[in-house]
Amino acid sequence: MTTEIMTIFDKVSDEVITNKEYLTDLDSSIGDGDHGINMARGFSKVKEKIAETTFEGNSQFLKTIAMTLISTVGGASGPLYGTAFLNASKVVSDDNISYDNLIQVGESIIEGIKKRGKAELGEKTMLDTIIPAVNSLKESKSKGINLKPALKNCLKAAEEGMKATIPIIATKGRASYLGERSKGHQDPGATSSYIVIKTIIDEIL
Ligand SMILES: Nc1ncnc2c1ncn2[C@@H]1O[C@H](COP(=O)(O)OP(=O)(O)OP(=O)(O)O)[C@@H](O)[C@H]1O
Ligand SMILES: [Mg+2]
Repeated sequence: MTTEIMTIFDKVSDEVITNKEYLTDLDSSIGDGDHGINMARGFSKVKEKIAETTFEGNSQFLKTIAMTLISTVGGASGPLYGTAFLNASKVVSDDNISYDNLIQVGESIIEGIKKRGKAELGEKTMLDTIIPAVNSLKESKSKGINLKPALKNCLKAAEEGMKATIPIIATKGRASYLGERSKGHQDPGATSSYIVIKTIIDEIL
């Protein structure tokens, strides 16, 4: 299982690095234009860690990602992603990650980001992608939908959540300094979260 998660996050790192300019362009519109640079720096280091480390299990692996992102990404998003992965490492199963465990991981990620950033849904942040994604997974589970179609629904919910940040006026982070002028731009953090979620789901499916 650890090899599986390592392969998934190696691909996640590649996708984040590939989207460096796209994320930076988005952040140039409503922030300081460093989100892509920050994220690509962090995930390049994650790739290095994956290549050089032997991990004992999923938990230790996610904790290492958390520490790596905290020490390399910087900005507002570094500590937020770091907290997300640290919380995930505390609840993730070291065996097979079940449907229920995936939901548990998602919930602990949301809890961590909310606590750290004091943001809620609808404030034009990464939470606008992550919360709908996790809620969709929970809803699918309660309706008895199997994991694979549930992951497809989850990805759609994440994409809709990301796009829904466009008309929102930012109230958190650097984009909030723009007030009304933050309207009409997709949030960079919501976009990087979508890239991470999409890559994980694409790899599982
Ligand atoms: N309080 C928050 N809660 C959740 N997400 C947040 C919060 N503040 C910012 N973000 C996310 O972080 C993204 C910006 O990340 P980035 O790495 O560019 O940090 P930054 O705003 O440049 O930080 P700094 O101002 O410290 O340099 C935003 O697009 C948003 O999704
Ligand atoms: Mg920025």
